[in-house]
Amino acid sequence: MQLVLFLLGLLCSVLQAQDVSVMEKVTAYIGDEITLPCSFTSTDPSQRVSQIMWLNGTESLAASSGHFGDYVKDTQRYQLVKQSNTSIVLKISPVKYSDEGEYICEVTSFPAGNARATTTVIVKAKPQNSALANTTVVGDDREQVGATCTSAHGRPPSQITWHTAVPGNWSTKITNNPDGTYTVTSQYFMMPIWTADGAAVTCVINYESEDYSIPLTFSVQYKPVVTIEGFDDNWHLHRNGVYLTCNGKGNPPPTSYIWKTLDGSPLPSSVRIKDNMLYVDEVDERVNRSFLCEVTNALGSRASRQDVLVRAKPNTSGAGTTGGIIGGIIAGIVGVAVATTVAMICRQQRRNETAKDEEEIDGPPTYKPPPPSLKLQTEPPSREGLLKNQPHQQETTYDVEMSPPKPGRLSDPRLHLALEDDYLEQENPIYNEYHPYESESPRGDHGFMMSPAVYV
Ligand SMILES: *[C@@H]1O[C@H](CO)[C@@H](O)[C@H](O)[C@H]1NC(C)=O
Ligand SMILES: *[C@@H]1O[C@H](CO)[C@@H](O)[C@H](O)[C@H]1NC(C)=O
Ligand SMILES: *[C@@H]1O[C@H](CO)[C@@H](O)[C@H](O)[C@H]1NC(C)=O
Ligand SMILES: *[C@@H]1O[C@H](CO)[C@@H](O)[C@H](O)[C@H]1NC(C)=O
Ligand SMILES: *[C@@H]1O[C@H](CO)[C@@H](O)[C@H](O)[C@H]1NC(C)=O
Ligand SMILES: *[C@@H]1O[C@H](CO)[C@@H](O)[C@H](O)[C@H]1NC(C)=O
Repeated sequence: MQLVLFLLGLLCSVLQAQDVSVMEKVTAYIGDEITLPCSFTSTDPSQRVSQIMWLNGTESLAASSGHFGDYVKDTQRYQLVKQSNTSIVLKISPVKYSDEGEYICEVTSFPAGNARATTTVIVKAKPQNSALANTTVVGDDREQVGATCTSAHGRPPSQITWHTAVPGNWSTKITNNPDGTYTVTSQYFMMPIWTADGAAVTCVINYESEDYSIPLTFSVQYKPVVTIEGFDDNWHLHRNGVYLTCNGKGNPPPTSYIWKTLDGSPLPSSVRIKDNMLYVDEVDERVNRSFLCEVTNALGSRASRQDVLVRAKPNTSGAGTTGGIIGGIIAGIVGVAVATTVAMICRQQRRNETAKDEEEIDGPPTYKPPPPSLKLQTEPPSREGLLKNQPHQQETTYDVEMSPPKPGRLSDPRLHLALEDDYLEQENPIYNEYHPYESESPRGDHGFMMSPAVYV
């Protein structure tokens, strides 16, 4: 107890004797101004302050003395503001990163002698952030820079991370600038696959615990990817007004669509071509052949093939379904995407049902979904239930298990198509005869719906 009182007394006497007060820590941005106040207080009225001085290390930067007047080392950057005999302010402007460090305020008083206090100055620089998507081209099996993100002239250096569903990795480089700042540059490397074109990527720059996000989209250039739709496997003699639609998707956008016959013979006069459309006003034997649609953009051309089988009589037993093996595999890959669509449509239909809409009756009455046991073995039972309500979404019958494992946070169903790219290139470098839709789906006069997920 006595000891505590003694210590308190000692402390009080010290505090009372004299006190140099400064700020413990000052943070400034490069180019700004630093203000360093220093004042001396004493409860002893007989104390006389003869000098107050700011030093860095051992060098005097500015001093105010009753005897000698004021001193400033470098009047270009330092300014001394004298508030009273016992209080001064040192201003430094414009701040350079070399101003970072410890500053000492030293007060000489009589009769007590010298007293000091220290301020730590921290110099920062706000970075300029920018990001750009590099244009990549589908080509050889090499990773390319998909996007570049830069946080320039920051201090301390920023951290850069990337967020995207497109598989890849990044490398970050830090450059020391002469002014004491850092320039951080990060590049996102990815395999340019056409399905990554337009996919979202975000560069996140973390500076001083704050995130700054720059959203971008990848730009992957590729030769057109071609699909043909419109064949319902029920083209019979004398049927009127059928047509094929050729869809070309490419970056840069397709510039031309050319319809041909597979064997190179001229197009029969019973077909009419308009842009990407092939119209048949009345089906005849001459249409009983395979057609090609070739789509061209600045990078080249690719074609898709449609085998047309003309029937002598209409097939009245419902919408045709001929599951090709290749089509099945490919469609299996897109199965996930289609499943999403089915879910959406089911939701819509549930809404319709509750509203007692007539649409239920309008559905294709003769259609029978394929036996679930054939292709749906791996499907959960709930999925079967959905499918029965959705005859026109027959694509969902493809085995979903065959789709490739989902990479990471994949949410973009187009990425599942990535494998197609390679598959098609290997299968046939000239004509990529992949037609996941045209040969598989019973589209036609009644209610075909293109899966929106695949074409967004
Ligand atoms: C102190 O300031 C002077 C003048 O600005 C500078 O040249 C010197 O390097 C500084 N010294 C330290 C230790 O910061
Ligand atoms: C400040 O200094 C001046 C001259 O040295 C002196 O006349 C004045 O009394 C001082 N004032 C205080 C408050 O110490
Ligand atoms: C990517 O774009 C950035 C910014 O335009 C550029 O500096 C960089 O050289 C590009 N990199 C490649 C590999 O094209
Ligand atoms: C990540 O980078 C390494 C080399 O740094 C490369 O070998 C690898 O293929 C890359 N992985 C992906 C997914 O891009
Ligand atoms: C169309 O061609 C197939 C064989 O390629 C043939 O079996 C069929 O009878 C032909 N259809 C008509 C209407 O001639
Ligand atoms: C008619 O279509 C049904 C189902 O769509 C199919 O099972 C059947 O084989 C088709 N008939 C002919 C003659 O092709």
